[in-house]
Amino acid sequence: MTTSNRKAEDKESHLTPAHILVIDDEEILLKSCQRSLEPLGHTVVTTRSPEEGLKILEDQRFDLVLSDLRMPHMDGLDVLRNVKENWPDTEVIIITGHGTVNTAVSAMKTGAFDYIEKPFTPDTLNIIVERALKTRQIYIEHAQLKKEVRSFYIKNIIGKSPAMENVYKLIDSVTSTASTVLITGESGTGKELVARAIHFNSPRSDDSFMVLDCGTLSENLIESELFGHMKGSFTGATENKVGLLEAADKGTLFLDEIGNLPMQLQTKLLRVLQEKEFRPIGAKRSNKVDVRFIAATNRDLKEMVDNGEFREDLYYRLNIFPIHVPSLSERREDIPLLSYHFLGKFESELGLKVDNIDADAMNILINYDWPGNVRELENAIHRAMLLSETGIITPSQLIFLDEAVRGGIPGTAEELKEIKKRLRSRSIESVEKAFVISALERNDWNVSKAARSVGMQRTNLHALIRKYDVPMKEKDAEEQGDEA
Ligand SMILES: Nc1ncnc2c1ncn2[C@@H]1O[C@H](COP(=O)(O)OP(=O)(O)OP(=O)(O)O)[C@@H](O)[C@H]1O
Ligand SMILES: [Mg+2]
Repeated sequence: MTTSNRKAEDKESHLTPAHILVIDDEEILLKSCQRSLEPLGHTVVTTRSPEEGLKILEDQRFDLVLSDLRMPHMDGLDVLRNVKENWPDTEVIIITGHGTVNTAVSAMKTGAFDYIEKPFTPDTLNIIVERALKTRQIYIEHAQLKKEVRSFYIKNIIGKSPAMENVYKLIDSVTSTASTVLITGESGTGKELVARAIHFNSPRSDDSFMVLDCGTLSENLIESELFGHMKGSFTGATENKVGLLEAADKGTLFLDEIGNLPMQLQTKLLRVLQEKEFRPIGAKRSNKVDVRFIAATNRDLKEMVDNGEFREDLYYRLNIFPIHVPSLSERREDIPLLSYHFLGKFESELGLKVDNIDADAMNILINYDWPGNVRELENAIHRAMLLSETGIITPSQLIFLDEAVRGGIPGTAEELKEIKKRLRSRSIESVEKAFVISALERNDWNVSKAARSVGMQRTNLHALIRKYDVPMKEKDAEEQGDEA
């Protein structure tokens, strides 16, 4: 058995030794608690005075406190309140005498984990203590996990440029509030990443982060996605559907590409923002919701307002806390860090083994203009890793999108056939794979569109996608869903 296995088993069979404080005015009871708990590996500190107990708590950290309910000078409920106020993750078990069970129940409402009635056997004590410690352990692991998810979202935003430091500051100052946030920036700058960082660092992080993509859905679809609908409210509404507003209750709703929201829906959204309630399509009554809104756009909303394409009142409602994400060419100093981040990412996600970028290639990366921003850099690194046969990225693998065809990646199935005739097998695979990825990229990861544009059957393109294990974006899932 390996050490880690053994550790896992240990955890199952009994808990890590805990630090336990017992407060009771009867010496006999203190001794008997010590006798039952210490052989299990726990350290047990005892005191007959609740005041003294609170002093000990100031100096040492305890996992669990057992306190008598009725004691001279101070009552167990005061001990409980004090512990819960100052050390909320220390569990408390109340020891009750005969006839005080009712008070014990109210102690549980105040936050005690459980109560134990005197006289009790060592076994009963051990069971209750073990349960309390296990609950505490789960609670701590859960809190740890939540912290990791949070730091994951902040850590995942890579960049140390002053421009990004400024974005982090803005994120920090808005997370604890429920303010509406408007994130602006060119396509691919990381607006969604910022939105997620805000949600996962906010008090709402236990509830959902939902996304409404106003960029790709039709007006009717946006409306039913957002508000939900009742069965039979229109042709095709065969079931009740829960809308995103309801799904995001107590959480966050991310309104992506808000600049594409049709006028009529702008009016409806404004009403939701003002009244904090909405009515599913076909429903008789409105529902209250508590949602934090984050909107994002790569368009100039102010200009759209001036042109009469976006409601001015909605614009002001959304633009309460603006965050602008700078384009990549305004923070070139982040390019090396981002490039190495993506090398690591594709190594761990796809097993691609390329761990270096030579100086010339890095020079090109730093000086290129990146109209598609971080997303384009991410794709360029991915493609270069696929093409590299030496474990190092050199300029010859940096074939940017608009130069793809000229740079050697075939643009059509016909060209692919020609090139394959002239290549050794190892290179055939990398060219074929680059061909598939480049076709998908040029067509927004829509397989049918990509197949059409290169003159290939959809099923054949799919076969290549599978052959090379090309990671598909959400677009394809949607597309397949539509076809099903
Ligand atoms: N600072 C960053 N660190 C790491 N990855 C990033 C960063 N910025 C963007 N990315 C990555 O680039 C891609 C695009 O980011 P995202 O979807 O957040 O951009 P966007 O601004 O919402 O783009 P669009 O306007 O096209 O929707 C994602 O894969 C994201 O993980
Ligand atoms: Mg986006």
